[in-house]
Amino acid sequence: MKIIRTINEMTNKIKELSHETIGFVATMGFLHEGHLSLVRKAKEENDLVVMSIFVNPLQFGPNEDFEEYPRNEEQDTDIAEKAGIDVLFMPTVKEMYPEELAIKMTIEKGTDVLCGRSRPGHFDGVGTVLTKLFHIIEPNYAYFGLKDAQQFAIVHNLVRQLNFPLQVVGLPTIREADGLAKSSRNVNLSDRERAEAKQLYKSLQYAQKLLVDGIKNPDIIKAEVQKMLQKETNGIIDYIEILSFPNLGQISTIKEQIIIAVAVQFEQARLIDNILLQADGTKIDRL
Ligand code: PAJ
Repeated sequence: MKIIRTINEMTNKIKELSHETIGFVATMGFLHEGHLSLVRKAKEENDLVVMSIFVNPLQFGPNEDFEEYPRNEEQDTDIAEKAGIDVLFMPTVKEMYPEELAIKMTIEKGTDVLCGRSRPGHFDGVGTVLTKLFHIIEPNYAYFGLKDAQQFAIVHNLVRQLNFPLQVVGLPTIREADGLAKSSRNVNLSDRERAEAKQLYKSLQYAQKLLVDGIKNPDIIKAEVQKMLQKETNGIIDYIEILSFPNLGQISTIKEQIIIAVAVQFEQARLIDNILLQADGTKIDRL
C-alpha cells in the first residue's frame, strides 16, 4: 500500500499506476467495519482502490467536535493495508487548505432538513472537500454509506448536476450485534449511553413495523418513535423525520420511497441512524 500525503504526489501516482477503473472511499479515519464494507465493494468492482483519510475542518461547526474527533493514524494505516487499499491519501489540513478559500460549494437543496438544520454549513464543507478529492483522485466510482443518507443524497446531486465524471454508489449501514450503527463517534459514549444507543435502531425498526402494519401517516409514526426514544434513552432528541428519498421532501402520507431518520445528542457524541423504505415498508439496501 502506498501512503501519500501531498496532492502533487497523489495525482502523479494515479497517472503512474495502470488501471481500468478507480474505486474511491472517502473517510475521516478511525476506521471500522462500516468503512471496510465500502472498501470490499470497491475492490470487487475496481482494479485500483484509493482511500482518503482526512478530518475535514470545513464540515465542522464552531461548537462541534473537530478537536475531539477520534484519530489513530497508525491503527488506520494497518487496517487500510490489511483491507487491501492500494493508495492511502492522508493530507494535512495545510495541504488541503493552504490559503483561505475564495470559492466554496453551497448546497442549495436538501440541507434544511435532518442534520442540515442543526449543522449549518456542514454539507457545504462536505461538498467542498469532496469536490477537491474527486479532482485530485479522479475516481470512476465513489462509495458512500447509506448510514449518512442525507450526505449520500447531496453527493449524488453534486455529481449529477455538476457533471463530475464518476458514479456514486450507496451501500447499506453496517451495525453492531445489538443494532447500533457503527460509527467512529461511538467511542465517545459512556457505558450507560452505549447501552441506550441501541434504541435508535430499535425505534426505527418499530417505525418500519408500524408502516408494514398499514400506518401511512408520518406524524403518527414519528410520535411513536419519540415516545420510545424518550422512554429508553437519556439523550436529547435532535430530530425524528420521515421524508421522501432521495429528494428529502416533506410528505403528508407515505406513498413513495422514504427515509425515517433520527439523531440523538448524548453527552460527548451525537448519533444518527436511518432506514430507507419502500411505501409498503420493504427495506432498501443499495442505491
Ligand atoms: P466518515 O464518517 O469517516 O465516513 C466515511 C464513509 O463511511 C461515509 O460514506 C459513511 O457513510 C460510511 N460509513 C460510516 N459508518 C458506516 C456504517 N456503519 N455503515 C456503512 N457505511 C458507513 O462521511 C464522512 O466520513 C465525511 O463526511 C466524508 C464523506 C469523508 C467527507 O469529509
